[in-house]
Amino acid sequence: MKRVGVTDTTLRDAHQSLLATRMRTEDMLPVVGKLDQAGFYALEVWGGATFDACLRYLGEDPWERLRQIRARVRHTPLMMLLRGQNLVGYRHYPDDVVQAFVRLAVKNGVDILRVFDALNDLRNLRTAVAAAKEAGAHVQGTVVYTKSPVHTCRELVETALELAEMGADSICLKDMAGLLIPGEADQLVRALKEKVSLPLEIHAHYTSGLASMAYLKAIEAGADVVDTAVSTLALGTSQPPTESLAAALAGTEWEPELDLGLVAEVAEHFRVVRRKYQEYDVGTVVDAAVLRYQIPGGMISNFTAQLAQQKALDKLPQVLEEVERVREELGYPPLVTPSSQVVGAQAVLNVLGGERYKLVANEVKAYLRGFYGQPPGPVSEAVRRKVVGDEGAIACRPADLLPPGLEPARREVAAYLETEEDLLSYVLFPPQAKKFLQERLAARTQVDYCLLEAAENEGGGYPAP
Ligand code: CO
Repeated sequence: MKRVGVTDTTLRDAHQSLLATRMRTEDMLPVVGKLDQAGFYALEVWGGATFDACLRYLGEDPWERLRQIRARVRHTPLMMLLRGQNLVGYRHYPDDVVQAFVRLAVKNGVDILRVFDALNDLRNLRTAVAAAKEAGAHVQGTVVYTKSPVHTCRELVETALELAEMGADSICLKDMAGLLIPGEADQLVRALKEKVSLPLEIHAHYTSGLASMAYLKAIEAGADVVDTAVSTLALGTSQPPTESLAAALAGTEWEPELDLGLVAEVAEHFRVVRRKYQEYDVGTVVDAAVLRYQIPGGMISNFTAQLAQQKALDKLPQVLEEVERVREELGYPPLVTPSSQVVGAQAVLNVLGGERYKLVANEVKAYLRGFYGQPPGPVSEAVRRKVVGDEGAIACRPADLLPPGLEPARREVAAYLETEEDLLSYVLFPPQAKKFLQERLAARTQVDYCLLEAAENEGGGYPAP
């Protein structure tokens, strides 16, 4: 018997993908205990865009969310998604910030850190991996999957081997665009399982309609764990549905050990909760354009919005074709945050600017100078010359150039800090966190004032001297 493990992504990736990451902690907590009892391999509950969204949109403390979930989960490991040196933000942070963030994430309840770098430049994972190991956490090293001439099966296996060498406890194959076709899943998983002796987890998005089929092939080929979401927050740009996978595998040697009664209760809860977030809901249609252009669904909807603003929606097909060209010229970066923004911004400028690379996005300059890391493949020399001229690329790891960030930040917001976690929130998202911390302090002062007033009123009954 080789039962497959299932990681539930409902509380992180599913609502990040379907509801613009807007789900509030109060809508999660009623079913966290049930998820814990249902028999999942892990619960992915933190990281990715959720940290940013808590501070930016929800007025919530992301650390408090983690602690609230941790307090209700006794049996199942908690997983987070960490963007390597970018942590849960969009730029490279200094090593002292990465070390402190990882230490506090583990201290507040994360058991498994799934760590990836958009370019598969493993230098950008080193500090986070070392810090997670030191904190005693399970490190899941991630191979970002994409289609390109430089991302062959051999290359991807090579990346996994390097992750194993770095000390990863398991490997994740991350297909953020949902492009993994079943036959490829079979081939890749066999190759990975043959060469790398670590548990292998597959993470895919349903966007193109392929993910459930790819999972089945991956499981038959020896994948140990797959990521799903409960049916009411699955499909579309989210993960495949847990219940369907369980039904497909019922009676086979891979049948997962899940309590489907509990999963059904969780699904019913989110069926109702989802209605509250209707204004953000992107729905769950299969996006066939993803198959045609091999571009993540999120990018296509961003283009649609941007071009509509410029009254140039008719240019969408050109932009989508330009993406592939720019991507080739930039050495085939996988289209995932933040490299998808680099490629996307330039593709739009190239189409709307009339001449290619006449206008250049700052991100592209930084990318070509090595500030995101090493491009996976060779960069077009003509484009490099046109964009950055004689300015050379850095040869070192981008974060090597960053001075320590914690202490300067501490001085900036000393008045509002209550915990070390507050400081990290501020370093990562300065304006958003500062506003949150100020408002929290103001609310506390208000409460103190009310208590004081109440105490004084009671004091009125004291006998006069
Ligand atoms: Co994902």
